[in-house]
Amino acid sequence: MAELGNLAEGERMCQLASVYELVQSHRITAVIYTAAMLNLAEAIGGETKSVDELANLVSADESALRRLLIALTTLGLCRQAEQDRFAMTDLGRQLDRDGDPSFKDWIIFEGEMLMQSWSGLLDSIRTGKTAAQLRGDGDDRYTAASNPPGWTRQFNAAMVSLTRSIVPKIIAAHDFAAARIVMDVGGGTGELIGGVLQHTPHLEGVAFDLARCEAEARAHFERLGIADRGRFVAGNFFEAIPRVADTILMKSILHNWKDDCCEIILRNCRNALPASGTLIVIERIMPERATTGAENRSCAMSDLNMLRGPGGRERTEAEYCKLAASAGFRLVGTAGIGMFSLIQFRSGEN
Ligand SMILES: C[S@@+](CC[C@H](N)C(=O)[O-])C[C@H]1O[C@@H](n2cnc3c(N)ncnc32)[C@H](O)[C@@H]1O
Repeated sequence: MAELGNLAEGERMCQLASVYELVQSHRITAVIYTAAMLNLAEAIGGETKSVDELANLVSADESALRRLLIALTTLGLCRQAEQDRFAMTDLGRQLDRDGDPSFKDWIIFEGEMLMQSWSGLLDSIRTGKTAAQLRGDGDDRYTAASNPPGWTRQFNAAMVSLTRSIVPKIIAAHDFAAARIVMDVGGGTGELIGGVLQHTPHLEGVAFDLARCEAEARAHFERLGIADRGRFVAGNFFEAIPRVADTILMKSILHNWKDDCCEIILRNCRNALPASGTLIVIERIMPERATTGAENRSCAMSDLNMLRGPGGRERTEAEYCKLAASAGFRLVGTAGIGMFSLIQFRSGEN
């Protein structure tokens, strides 16, 4: 409490009151998760609907549902048009599986898997270990035997919903005109490379990831009608990355891993690229000094999520540059793309 000592009384009261508010944040996650699981956004659609009609549509108790709708209204996800009639707001439509963007799969991942895992954060702060390490289940979250059933499917779907929301920003921030073959290392089920190929008809693309993503990635390329230019290559980026591309993308990969692992991945990227090849790293960037700004908070929360989950960390731009330099890359430039940044590197001579 000592750091509050210099604040004016009003500010002090405000800060104390907000701790009471902040610590209840899990209630907000539960409200959003419940609405998503009831398919409320899909039931309301673009209309205004009465609570009794909605209670029938989503199989809920009418009075309890009204209370949930009121809570959603206070969060800006619903609008109370009349006493007992509600509509979704633009923000609320992100709960709809067909919303643009839709975060439904992320909401389910957050509500079912992350919320439960975060309840053990204290153990990770005391020990510096991930949840899997504390269970005695090794250092690699992606292959941990103790992952709950359905974890891979739900994790992949959650990543797709997040990545889909920033693909347009990546395409706007980087000109792929000079590239011929782009490989997304740790590209999951192909969401990012699929979006890049759709936007840039002259490009060929590869999603490189563990075999666990192969079937979904191939189906995704077929759905997009780019299976002739987009392919999936299964492999392990700690062993070798195929030498097929002039440009490598890596989104949300390095933050999963400790520095020594990142150095191996980056060296393998370097070995896979020609001289003057392009490496594009897409990550959140940790501030040199934290503030209460929304982006700083989102990055700090993601950092703790990395501590608890895969055992990695969020890094400052200088830390990314140092890691990349150790593998033979030099910085070309950094562009902010919402909560993420796109950091472009060029490879030197092999
Ligand atoms: C956080 S996800 C990011 C997925 C995708 N880049 C995105 O942003 O949507 C990390 C990805 O790294 C992949 N991965 C983990 N270990 C790997 C390894 N040893 N070799 C290749 N890919 C791996 C996972 O399967 C997963 O798809």
